[in-house]
Amino acid sequence: MATVKFYKSEEQVPLEMHKVRVVQKLYLPTVEERVKKLAEAGNNTFLLQNRDVFMDMLTDSGVNAMSDNQVAAMMQADDSYAGSETCNRLMKVIKEVFGTEYFLPAHQGRACENILAETFVKPGDVVPMNFHFTTTKAHITRKGGSVAELIRHEGLLPQSDNPFKGNFDIPALEKLIEEVGADHVPFVRIEAGTNLVGGQPLSLENMLQVAEVCKKNGILSVLDASLLQDNLYFMKTREEACKNMTIKEIMRTLCEKMDLIYFSSRKLGFARGGAIVSNNEKLILKMKEYIPLYEGFLTYGGMEVRSMEAMAVGLLETLDEEIINQGPIFIEYLVKELNDYGVPMILPAGGLGAHINAMEFLKGMPQSQYPAGALATALYIAGGIRGMERGSLSEQRNPDGSENYAEMELVRLACPRRVFTLSQIKYCADRVKWLYDNRHLIGGLKWVEEPDVLRFFFGKLTPIGDWQEKLAAKFREDFGDSL
Ligand SMILES: Cc1ncc(COP(=O)(O)O)c(C=O)c1O
Repeated sequence: MATVKFYKSEEQVPLEMHKVRVVQKLYLPTVEERVKKLAEAGNNTFLLQNRDVFMDMLTDSGVNAMSDNQVAAMMQADDSYAGSETCNRLMKVIKEVFGTEYFLPAHQGRACENILAETFVKPGDVVPMNFHFTTTKAHITRKGGSVAELIRHEGLLPQSDNPFKGNFDIPALEKLIEEVGADHVPFVRIEAGTNLVGGQPLSLENMLQVAEVCKKNGILSVLDASLLQDNLYFMKTREEACKNMTIKEIMRTLCEKMDLIYFSSRKLGFARGGAIVSNNEKLILKMKEYIPLYEGFLTYGGMEVRSMEAMAVGLLETLDEEIINQGPIFIEYLVKELNDYGVPMILPAGGLGAHINAMEFLKGMPQSQYPAGALATALYIAGGIRGMERGSLSEQRNPDGSENYAEMELVRLACPRRVFTLSQIKYCADRVKWLYDNRHLIGGLKWVEEPDVLRFFFGKLTPIGDWQEKLAAKFREDFGDSL
């Protein structure tokens, strides 16, 4: 992997391999305003207005910076409904990148999940996966199926030196298939760059082993490639067998063993949209009719043609090491800064963002007070930084209405690729450090409005007591008139 070394090794920092040509002005409200804005947003960072956010670290979804070539390609979009040249160009790129012949367009990742669940999942089915993703699980359970999480035990340890914490537990997968019977397993889902456990990658070897188990049992292997670009970087840098392979070779070796691949192009390819791709025509034909029904005609599947052009260029750029290393090296820097200070971080650093272990940060706070949600609100007060709760708030309640507490309570500080400069990342680290030193001031949250489905998106909460005002007062005391 290409790296740039600094003359003074102690001054080594991640280096941007691009220059900024279009910028967006940011606004940082005062700490007192931040407390107010948070209350207006029901203490849910999803409900904050972007104009009130200084660093938007909610997600990397649809907010990665585009390259000049992507923006240029958008200008040549062919708007025709049928037989569009844009679609032809995208199909050509998909073949080049994934090595797959067939393509179904969809408006984003969850739309692909809807179609997969609609086509393959029956009531009583079990879908094994290394770990669930929120929308994936919602689609599978909506069809009467259930999800079996078979990540290896290291995956759920906050800190480990295992470079591939997203790996499947292969014996557990074999055992599960034997227990429930292959007929009740419509597919096995392999999630690259495991989102909900800290953007942790799987090794190429492990993914191929899963595909082998699937093949042996006549079960479909489905790769969720939404976070594949970071995962490819980790394969290349952490896996001996991949060191001498190009990104394209790794990609092809992986993809040729998968029955179906789907992705959100809001992540993969720094664009918008999504797709399902495969070399298996029969499988594609089974799903095909749902595209015009739910998404749009087969040439665009609900995507805006300009996004498809950006996707095509972005997918090709995913094969460039100096492009896909930008997320992981900035994340690694942020994680190291915080870990060295003593902030409990998910280790090793993964893709997508830096993940704070809120359970440890707010030791002693019961999960019923939503430590990850509380920490996310405290971070907004501390620095106008919008992170995302990835803990119990992001879970669905059990059918009997009881809480389904998450295995880990995380606050994710997403690092959309090529968006933040190093000084902004340093600012983020500084505010988290301050918060860590003042963690005794942080209290819990309780529900005010709790939707039944995907409650984390639009549910509203309130702080238990007046801890947010006290935190803001301490900020004033320590930072004076600073924003
Ligand atoms: C691993 C994974 N799969 C699927 C999705 C859903 O994609 P989308 O947000 O485009 O619907 C996401 C989104 O974050 C994801 O991270």
